[in-house]
Amino acid sequence: MSEWAGIRDGGVVFEDEAVLVLNKPAGISVMGERHETDLVRMAAAAGEELFPVHRIDKVTSGAVLFAKELRWHGPLTRQFAGRTVGKAYLAIVTPGGTPAQGVIDLPLSAGRKGRVRVAAQRASIVADSARGTWSVPESEVFGIATFYTMFNMKPVGRHHLQVCMTLSCSLMGADRLFRHLEQKLKIGHGETTPDGRFTLRRVECLAACGGGPCMQVGFDYHENLDEKKTDALLERLK
Ligand code: FES
Repeated sequence: MSEWAGIRDGGVVFEDEAVLVLNKPAGISVMGERHETDLVRMAAAAGEELFPVHRIDKVTSGAVLFAKELRWHGPLTRQFAGRTVGKAYLAIVTPGGTPAQGVIDLPLSAGRKGRVRVAAQRASIVADSARGTWSVPESEVFGIATFYTMFNMKPVGRHHLQVCMTLSCSLMGADRLFRHLEQKLKIGHGETTPDGRFTLRRVECLAACGGGPCMQVGFDYHENLDEKKTDALLERLK
């Protein structure tokens, strides 16, 4: 069997009287002068004339569409050039290391346009083929939840006071402000007043560095704070 016959035998995806779609093996070009041989020359040597029309999708497939006669080549080429041809993709995939079926036990979030997405890094997702599950390790979830201050590991008070302690705010008196709040509310970092009204927390930069010292209360920012302004704010929050 000639090399062309072997390629044709194992690689025909579709064929009719006008076209041949071939799954091109890697390492052989379709047609060109840079290599010793190519598919067109191999076919010609075996007595078959082919006219390359289109490589279906370079990234995902090796499929090449050939016209079997010159009279079909022009019309087909024009359809691809003008993008008037319709393409339908059928993906046949082989799972590697993931269960054939099971429960997806992953954190989900609503992304852009309300699309539901997996709220975890691809690299963090662990497949357990024995249990048929995909999941994110607890350590990963814990790391994220403790890094971002918008996640609370336990219930917080009605007003969550988050005082920025990073450099700009610190230079402008954040430490003094935090001590004032501790004394006034009689609670420390991460604690909640017995009546459940206030939770106090030190946090890193709130990205309002020009308005230090700065405190976030719920979703609101309060900047250029001093003891007097803070006392007035606490009064309003009661
Ligand atoms: S340093 Fe306080 S908001 Fe940036």
